This record gives sequence, C-alpha cells and structure tokens, in this order.
Amino acid sequence: MTQLKVDISKLKSFTGDSAWAAMQVEINNCHRMLTSQTGKGNDFLGWVDLPVQLEPALLARIQADADHIREMAELFVVIGIGGSYLGSKAVIEALANPFDALTGGSGNPSIVFAGENLSEDYHAQLLDLLDHKEYAVAVISKSGTTTEPAIAFRLIRKHIEAKYGKEEARKRIFAITDSSRGALKKLADAEGYSSYVIPDDIGGRYSVLTPVGLLPIAVAGFDIRKLVEGAVQMREVALKSSDFEQNPCAHYAAARNILLRSGKFVEILVAFEPGLLYVIEWWKQLYGESEGKENKGIFPAGVTFTSDLHSMGQYIQEGMRMLFETVISVGEPAFQLVVPDDPENLDGLNFLSGMRLSEVNRQAELGTMLAHVDGGVPNIRVSIPTINEYYLGQLIYFFEFSCALSGYALGVNPFDQPGVEAYKKNMFALLGKPGFEKETAELRKKLL
Ligand code: PA5
Repeated sequence: MTQLKVDISKLKSFTGDSAWAAMQVEINNCHRMLTSQTGKGNDFLGWVDLPVQLEPALLARIQADADHIREMAELFVVIGIGGSYLGSKAVIEALANPFDALTGGSGNPSIVFAGENLSEDYHAQLLDLLDHKEYAVAVISKSGTTTEPAIAFRLIRKHIEAKYGKEEARKRIFAITDSSRGALKKLADAEGYSSYVIPDDIGGRYSVLTPVGLLPIAVAGFDIRKLVEGAVQMREVALKSSDFEQNPCAHYAAARNILLRSGKFVEILVAFEPGLLYVIEWWKQLYGESEGKENKGIFPAGVTFTSDLHSMGQYIQEGMRMLFETVISVGEPAFQLVVPDDPENLDGLNFLSGMRLSEVNRQAELGTMLAHVDGGVPNIRVSIPTINEYYLGQLIYFFEFSCALSGYALGVNPFDQPGVEAYKKNMFALLGKPGFEKETAELRKKLL
C-alpha cells in the first residue's frame, strides 16, 4: 500500500552534501542504539514493538468496552493531561466531522476532555453540561498522581456518583494507569473500576497506541485496528534500514539535526487541513518534551494554513531566519467540492470555476512552500495519501521513531522529562503543600 513519504528536495540548497554523508553515519549509530536498546532511556522502548505486540484479546476488550460505552453514553469524558490525552485528541479531531457536535450528526458519543488544564470556568461549564447528558468517564494517568487530572477526577467522580449512584457510577468509570504503582491504581482496585494498564516501558507521549489512546478513539467510532495496522507497516520500514533512501524516519531525523546545526532552531509543523491541528499539538509535545533539555533541542511550533498565512505567514516570510518548516501534505480529501461559477464575477475568480477546492489548497501549499524557501525557510514535506486511520497510524509511528532517532543524534535522552518537575514544585510550594514550607517562604518572597 502507498505509504508516507518524506521529501527533502527543497532543503538541498540550504545543506551541503558532506553534511548528509556525515549525518548518515550518525543516524546509522542512533538506529543501532535504538534497535539494540543500548541508548539513553532504553527502559522506555516498549512503544517500538507495541504495534506488533498488541494482543488481539486486548484490542477486542477495548472494542467491547467502547461499544458498551457508545450504548450508554452521549458523552465520553476523557480525563488526562500531556501524553494521556493529546494522542487520542489528535486522532479523533483528524477523523471527526468538525460539525458533529452541532448537528448531533454521526450518532457517535462526543469526546470531551478534562483535567488537561486547571481552569475553574472550563470545569464548571463541563459539570453543567454533564447535568444534562448521559455520560461515562475515562481517567487516564500513568503516574496516577498528576495534579490536574486528579483534581478533575475528584470533581467528576463526585458528579457521576451523585447523578447515577455509587454502584452505577462504578460501571461508568474506566481507569487507565500504571500496572502497580500510584494512587489511581489503588483507587481503581478499591472501587472495582474497569481498568487498563499502561505498560511500564512506555512513556506518556509514546502511549497513543496503548489503551490511553485506543479506548477514546474506539468510543468516538473510529477503527483502532486500522490505526494499529498503519503503525505496524511503518514500524517495518523504520526498523529495516537506517538508509535515508529507504527509511523516512531516518531521513526526517537527519534533516532536522542538519538544519539545527546550521542555526535553524525552530521547526514549524504545518498542515493545510484544520483537522490536523491536534496532530500538531501532539507532535509539539512529543518533540518538545523529548528533545528540549540540557539547553539543547529544536523549538517545536505549529501553524495551520491557509488561516495562519494571514497571521504568522508574515513572520515566516520575513522575520528572523532561524526557522524551518515541515509540512504534512495530504493527497486526497474525503469529500469533493468545486468552486461555483458566478456570472457577475465581481471577485474576478471565475478562472477557478469548476476547480476542486483541494486543488486550490494544493496550489496554495506549493506556492507557500516556494515563497518560504525563497525567503530562507527550508522545507521538509511529509506526505500521506489521505487522512484515515491507517495513515494516521503510519504518521504516529513515523513521528515517534523519528523523534527517538533525532533525540539520540542530539545527544539527549528522548524518553524523560525532568524539566516538567520545576513548575510542579513551585506550584505545590505556593499552594502550601505540607513538606514544602522552606520553598513556600522563598517563593513568596520572590513574588513580593
Ligand atoms: O509524556 C509524558 O510522560 C508526560 O507528558 C505525561 O503524559 C503527562 O505529564 C501526564 O502524566 P500522567 O499520565 O502520569 O498523569
């Protein structure tokens, strides 16, 4: 089956041949470290073989639970933050009709997210909505101790127990967490919630193909087996060879590191399909948390065009030249729509009459690429034939594998996130958590 491709032809004018030859040697080493599990963070490589190790029984159980949830709920509340929500949100937003919530169109439960922020307004408005809807909940946290989802679960648990009674509430709560540690695991066992395990060797941002992503995606009505199939296919390609011509992950990881070393330290992931907005958000987390450490790393940014051509487009064309772009280019849309003819032609656009909107979008994509390259912004193109479960599965695995290779080429551990602790420590101290008294006093003084 046609597969995801990486095109770096619009990069060559920015990079010399010798850089590519040297980088091929480095990437070969990184590929070896990854596949022989000898690199940094090698106890977090469970995602590499996950697509081929997912048990059919587990997929069947997820699908059966999803079918049951689809029968009992109009709304499925997914509580989680970071890797515990971005993957499912990315896939669901990419596949869903954006107007379903307004029309009630698809008959699928709406998936809503909670605990990915600490907004009082957001959660109060969500609880209001839950008063009027039949719902079920997934509470997702690998550590089981993350503050944001823990607070959201307190609120929603109280609501669901009050609404349905404790016994029925238990049947509507699904916990997805670590196999043995953590408060959520204890609670799930004590309350008898149906629960799923996040494998020990898979970190949050690499967990979309575990129940973390698969349960919400299946509840939303999408084909999780096809998603996994796409990942299986990309895994085969990614593992087989580290040669740039044969492995798009190696090619992308190499391109990023060559560009970084030539001073391009901001990567903008671009999509010309608004449905891919959360794929960009998921990618930002994957690359930001994996590479941004030890004062190193490419800063991951994102835009959706053509909307953002009318805002960020100006900066990208003419602002500081530390940028490069990676475009997710989609071959065929799912629907067909042509530009109508207008006898009056006041807007002067009759030369487009009868042309498909996707063709106009395609020429916007090509024109933008040429303009930005001429403006000094190198361009990498990642193409998929269309947006469906199978190609999203390929795209997910492609970005995961590339990220690991790229992190190794950068010299960091792509599987930890030590920097995330700093804000937590300060937040707890400012909130007066017992045990943080010294930090509380110091921080409050700094705020005066
Ligand atoms: O990638 C990661 O590990 C993080 O972004 C986590 O997913 C995020 O911090 C949530 O953690 P947890 O699932 O333990 O609540």
